[in-house]
Amino acid sequence: MISQKTVQEIIETAKIEEVVGDFVSLKRAGVNLKGLCPFHNEKTPSFVVSPSKNLCKCFGCGKGGDPIQFIREHENMSYPEALRFLANKYGIKVEETETSEEQRQERQLADSLYIVNEFALKHFQEQLLETDYGKSIGLGYFKERGFRQEIIKKFGLGFTPNTRQDFKTKALNAGYKEEHLSKLGLVSKAGNDFFRNRVMFTIHSLTGKVVGFAGRILVKGTKAPKYLNSPESEIYNKSKTLYGAYFAKTAIRKNDECIMVEGYTDVLSLHQAGIEHVVASSGTSLTEGQIRLIKRYTPNMKFIYDGDAAGIKAALRGLDLVLEQDMNVKVVLLPEGEDPDSYLKKVGTTVFKEYIDKEAKDFILFKTQLLLEEAAGDPIKKANLIKDIVESIAKIPDPIKRSVFVKECSTVMDVEEQILVNEVNKIFNRNIQKKRLQKSAKINQSLQALAEDVQGIEVPFPTEEEFSTKTIVSKPSRSGNEFQEKDIIRLLLEFGEELMDKEEALTVAHYILANVEEVVEDFENPVYKKIALECYELLGQEKAVARQHFIQHQDEEIKQTTLNLLSSPYEYSPNWEKIHDQPLQTQKKPEDNFINDTLSSVNRFKLKSIIKLCAQNQERIKEAFSEGDEIKGFQLMKVQQVLNEKRKIMAEQLGGTVVLK
Ligand code: GTP
Ligand code: MN
Repeated sequence: MISQKTVQEIIETAKIEEVVGDFVSLKRAGVNLKGLCPFHNEKTPSFVVSPSKNLCKCFGCGKGGDPIQFIREHENMSYPEALRFLANKYGIKVEETETSEEQRQERQLADSLYIVNEFALKHFQEQLLETDYGKSIGLGYFKERGFRQEIIKKFGLGFTPNTRQDFKTKALNAGYKEEHLSKLGLVSKAGNDFFRNRVMFTIHSLTGKVVGFAGRILVKGTKAPKYLNSPESEIYNKSKTLYGAYFAKTAIRKNDECIMVEGYTDVLSLHQAGIEHVVASSGTSLTEGQIRLIKRYTPNMKFIYDGDAAGIKAALRGLDLVLEQDMNVKVVLLPEGEDPDSYLKKVGTTVFKEYIDKEAKDFILFKTQLLLEEAAGDPIKKANLIKDIVESIAKIPDPIKRSVFVKECSTVMDVEEQILVNEVNKIFNRNIQKKRLQKSAKINQSLQALAEDVQGIEVPFPTEEEFSTKTIVSKPSRSGNEFQEKDIIRLLLEFGEELMDKEEALTVAHYILANVEEVVEDFENPVYKKIALECYELLGQEKAVARQHFIQHQDEEIKQTTLNLLSSPYEYSPNWEKIHDQPLQTQKKPEDNFINDTLSSVNRFKLKSIIKLCAQNQERIKEAFSEGDEIKGFQLMKVQQVLNEKRKIMAEQLGGTVVLK
C-alpha cells in the first residue's frame, strides 16, 4: 500500500493545469483554462481547468475531477497506478506502508504467482515461435486461421508440445516452486504439465498482468475437451475477468460501447480487423462482476451471438442481469452457422461492421420477437411470453426507458399498452415493496427496543405488514431532515478518517455511522443515503471512509455531491442559529471543532428522527381508534410515552452539547 503520507503529498503537489496540460493544450479563459475535451470528440473547447479548485471538468460530457481522477480516466489506470504516475512526474518518493504480516505474505504470494505466469507465457511463446515443431504445428495453425504476427505477439499466443514434464522441469530448474506451479494449474495433480499439445491463449487482468491461460486442442475428434483453462487462484478471479478487456478498454471508452462475443478467437479476429472494443465471456454466462467491469468504461453493450446458438434463450435470460445494472443492451444474431470470426473472414471488415450496426436489436425487442415466433398461435405460450418480457422490463431502473420499451413491445406483441404498463408496475412495485418492508422492519425493531427500555410495559406489536402498509408507506412524512442529513454527510466526508477518540481508535465515521444506523434507510435525500450506505460498506471491508474515495466516485451524482459538500463554504449567516438550530460557536473553525460538531450533529439527527417517529406513532394511534381497535390504540399510547421520554432526554443532552464551548 502506498502510505497516506505519500498520497497526501501527491494530492498537495499535483497541479491540475500541469497534469492536464501534458495531454491537452490549454488556453487561459479568465481565472480558468480551457481546451478540447480529451474524453469526447468536440470542435469547440468545453473542457475547463480550474487551478484554484485544482479540478477539471468537461461541460460537454461531464468527465473530470482532481489530478488523480484525471489520470485514472485518461490513462485508464487504477488508483495506485495513477498515484505512482503522478509521484513519478513530480519526483515524489513513494513510501509503502507497513502492512500486516498476513497482508505482506498475500502480496508476496501474488507477486510470485504473476512472475511464474510470466515465465510460463515466455515458455509458451518460445515453443510457438522458436521451435521447429511449434512453428509448424502451432504457428501453422494460427497462420492458417489468418492471425498475423503482430496480433500473435500482442495477445501472447503460444503453444505447448505433447511432452509430459518439459515445462515443469524447466520451471523447477529456473527456481520456481512446484507449489506455485500447481496453484496456477500449470502442473496437474498427477505432477505433469497441464497444457499439452495445445495452442495457448493468455488471459490478462485489466491492468495487463497474466492471470491465466486457455489451451485449445488441435486434433479434431478426440474426447478431450476443446479448451482447457487455468483454475481460479489468488490472482485469477474468473467472475471478474473478461478475455481481451486489457486490450479493449481504451477502445471501449472511445467507441462508448463494448462488444461481447463468445470465443477467444472471435476477440482476436475482430481486434485484428480494427474492431478493438471487443471482449469475450469465454463460454460461461456473464457475471455481475464482469458487467461492473464494463460499466466502468461504458453503459452500452452489444452482444454478438453465433448464428447456430442453440442455447440462445438461456443466454438471453442472463441478460436481465445486465438490464438491472442500467446498461443499454443490444443483440446481434449472425447468419446461420457463422461465428464472428468466420463471418468476418467471409464478408470482410466493411460488410461485417455494417451488419453488426444494422442488425443490432434492442435486447428486449429481440427477445420479444424471438419468443413470439416460437409462441405463434399458442395463447398460453403467448401469455407466458408476456410475463417473461414484463419481468425483464421491470428490471430496468430508469422509468423513461421502461416506458419506451413498454410502448414498443406492445406494438410488437400486439398487446394493449395499458395492460403491459399495469403488469410492469405491479412487478416493479412488488420489488420496491419488498425493500420497504425490510426498512419498516428495522424501524419496528427500534420502536420495540425503545418500548422494552421501560420496565413493566410489554407491548405486543402489530405485524410488519400492518405497520408498513398503513402508516409508513402510505404517509411518508416530510419533516425536513435533509439539512441534518447534509450536515452528517459533510462531516463523514470531511472528517471520516479523523479520530473521535484516540485511545479507542474510534474514527468520526465509526461514531456517526454507529449512531445513525437505524435511520439511514430513512434518509430523505437519495444521494446522501447512497453515500451513507456506501460508508457502511467501506467500514465493513475495514476500509477508511476517505474523501478521496468519494471525490473519485464512478457515480457522477455521488462525485458531484461530494465536491459540492467539500467545497461549499461555511455559512456564517447571523441567522444560522435560528434557521438551522445550529450553534455558531462550533462552526467557526470546523477543522478544530469536528468532534463537537460531530457529537451535536449526531444528537440533533437522532432528535429529529425521534420526533419523526413520534409523529408517525401519533398517526397510528389515530388510525387505531378510528378503526375501533382500542386495545391497539392504548398500546400505541404507551409506545408514545416511551418515545416522548426518549425525546426529552435527547433534547436535554443536546442542550448540554450546545453549552459546550
Ligand atoms: P474456434 O472454434 O476455434 O473458433 O474457437 P472458439 O473460441 O470460437 O470456440 P467455440 O465457439 O467452440 O466456443 C466459444 C467459447 O466457449 C470458447 O472460446 C471457450 O471460451 C468456450 N469453450 C468452448 N469449448 C470449451 C471447452 O471444452 N471447455 C471450456 N472450458 N470452454 C470451452
Ligand atoms: Mn466460436
